[in-house]
Amino acid sequence: MKTLTITRPDDWHIHVRNGAVLKTVLPHTARQFARAIIMPNLKPPVTTVEQALTYRKEILQAVPAGIDFIPLMTLYLTATTKISEIKKAAESDQIYAFKLYPAGATTNSDSGIANISAIYPLLAELEKFDIPLLIHGETTDIDCDIFDRERVFIDTILTDIARNFPNLRIVLEHVTTNEAVQFVYASGDNIAATITPQHLLYNRNALLSGGIRPHYYCLPIIKREKHRLALVQAATSGNPKFFLGTDSAPHITSLKETSCGCAGCYSAYTALELYAEVFEQAGSLNKLEGFASFYGADFYRLPRNSGTVTLEKITWRIPLTFGKNDNTITPIKAGEELSWKMQ
Ligand code: NCD
Ligand code: ZN
Repeated sequence: MKTLTITRPDDWHIHVRNGAVLKTVLPHTARQFARAIIMPNLKPPVTTVEQALTYRKEILQAVPAGIDFIPLMTLYLTATTKISEIKKAAESDQIYAFKLYPAGATTNSDSGIANISAIYPLLAELEKFDIPLLIHGETTDIDCDIFDRERVFIDTILTDIARNFPNLRIVLEHVTTNEAVQFVYASGDNIAATITPQHLLYNRNALLSGGIRPHYYCLPIIKREKHRLALVQAATSGNPKFFLGTDSAPHITSLKETSCGCAGCYSAYTALELYAEVFEQAGSLNKLEGFASFYGADFYRLPRNSGTVTLEKITWRIPLTFGKNDNTITPIKAGEELSWKMQ
């Protein structure tokens, strides 16, 4: 049997929610990954170290017995974030980054930043304390075509942030366009990007052609084929600026399959297998370990994991749903086959 063994990977961008959904989804991530950067866009958002430590405890309670999993907590940056909170985060050994959501750009981003240049004093503190800034890179200009929002954000906002804070470590999260890939390539080593499985596997036809498929709707929205190809090139290039971040973002099925469905794809159960398919199709399986297990840890200046995981080349079918009753979650590629399976 064909197998692939790599160092245990980490997920550098995930939403695990709280309450009943957390209990359903967290075991999936803990089985696949040693560590994960936990997004703070709960309702209400996680804006203080104290809230993050409470949330961290709730996450740890959902880890199945016998599994080692470390949640790496982040704080949600708002216009009223205090400099003293940034200092507290810097001094905490449980807080790994701040997340910048442009206000209204995505799920639970109402508390995000409306005027980004107004928070430059906060970005100066992040730079000073050397705390990574994670960015949802989409303009919130409602007149901007949804397929152009990432490119326009880079041109109008991100370029300016990068110029003003040359030492700020930035992760441009879930990149979806050739322009984002080129921006990251052209930047210094302080700027990196995560890439999701859905943006590597699919173009916008998967979402919109032959019927509307809500489980492929996420933000930033899946783009056209030339962008997917640029993402695959970047992910499989061996360039350490690009690393794994699933952006697995569960919403209960009834909130996805409705007239105004939520944004977010659920991929946590099959994350590594989905990436393995992409890397295999690109003839670059030997590059998967760097992308999944080394480059993110290096960027965050954390030790690489010890231990390994093994994928088997075997065909199996992804379940239709996870969870019970009113809390079911439909995964990406539900009911379809995968050709790799984690042991
Ligand atoms: C995420 C969510 O549901 O929290 N949704 C998504 O489409 N990716 C938020 C985000 O990361 O944009
Ligand atoms: Zn996300």
